Amino acid sequence: TKQPSPYDMIGGENVVKDLVEKFYQRVSSHPELSPIFPEDLTETRRKQVQFMTQFLGGPSLYTEEHGHPRLRARHLPFQITPSRAQAWLECMQLALSETEADEHEKRMLFERLKHTAQHMINTPQDRE
Ligand code: HEM
Repeated sequence: TKQPSPYDMIGGENVVKDLVEKFYQRVSSHPELSPIFPEDLTETRRKQVQFMTQFLGGPSLYTEEHGHPRLRARHLPFQITPSRAQAWLECMQLALSETEADEHEKRMLFERLKHTAQHMINTPQDRE
């Protein structure tokens, strides 16, 4: 028998779907983020559930359908500034706080996402 993955420990499919739903609710009403996202987030949400599932050590749903994530490359069409990365993380932190799951697993996930979000920055901060 294999060790439970973070995906199992955080609560599996239901928790990941719930988290992603709450996250994009925040994103869609964020003044800095909503302009760079599509109006209809159905497909975005579906891909993020696939990605998050494998990020947490669950089934490789994203790669099975889309190939290697190459996340930084896939984000290059969008201007990801330090403040957008910060906003993304704030939306995620709020979504996590509204999602019922083990606190330790949520914290571990957030720490990894902080690192990934920093890595996505591809545009220097624009000055007001
Ligand atoms: C796609 C923004 C960080 C995972 C996207 C899209 C945007 C975006 C605009 C395109 C949505 C679409 O066309 O459907 C941002 C911003 C970030 C950020 C502003 C701030 C740092 C992250 C992080 C992750 C992530 C940290 C990893 C958990 C994804 C995935 C997709 C995506 C999996 C779908 C890629 C695909 O089209 O296959 N993101 N993102 N993003 N993002 Fe991010």
